[in-house]
Amino acid sequence: MKVHTYEKAFLAVGLAVLLVCGAALVYATAVQGIHLPGVAGRIDPRRVYQTPPFNKPGVREVGPGHYQAVIVSQTWAFVPPVIRVPVNAKITFIATTVDVIHGFNVEGTRLNMMLVPGQVSRNSYRFSAPGEYLVICHEYCGLGHHTMAGKVVVEGAAADRAGGDEADDDGEDH
Ligand code: CUA
Repeated sequence: MKVHTYEKAFLAVGLAVLLVCGAALVYATAVQGIHLPGVAGRIDPRRVYQTPPFNKPGVREVGPGHYQAVIVSQTWAFVPPVIRVPVNAKITFIATTVDVIHGFNVEGTRLNMMLVPGQVSRNSYRFSAPGEYLVICHEYCGLGHHTMAGKVVVEGAAADRAGGDEADDDGEDH
């Protein structure tokens, strides 16, 4: 069977595109750690604020260099709106919603979760640079959707903070 030269070239281009896409997929999952988060648990959406760990939203240390950030979403806010975590620590985000579907996307990172009523979402991340990261809801959730945002404040290493603690306390008290 004779395959025309142009047809061969066309097949080669098709094969090359397929290989590049396959390589990109492997790179995204194996190197960058991007994957679809699975269901981390079920919850009664009417009793979120009574169900641990969502009865105490916020950040807590769960081990050396490992923190848990518990977040509740509702129209149209994240609770708590601002979370503070140390740089280079492993942060496990655990989130859910009390009403409709919301999104949880930390800008500039691969942290991207869908928050579905009755479902607990979980994802871990390590911030390697201090700074403020905007958290946005990326699932349309009603009239106030565009106002639904939060913030992750990544703070410098504990050793860096120690020196300024005393001076900071005076100014921050009230
Ligand atoms: Cu919450 Cu959009």
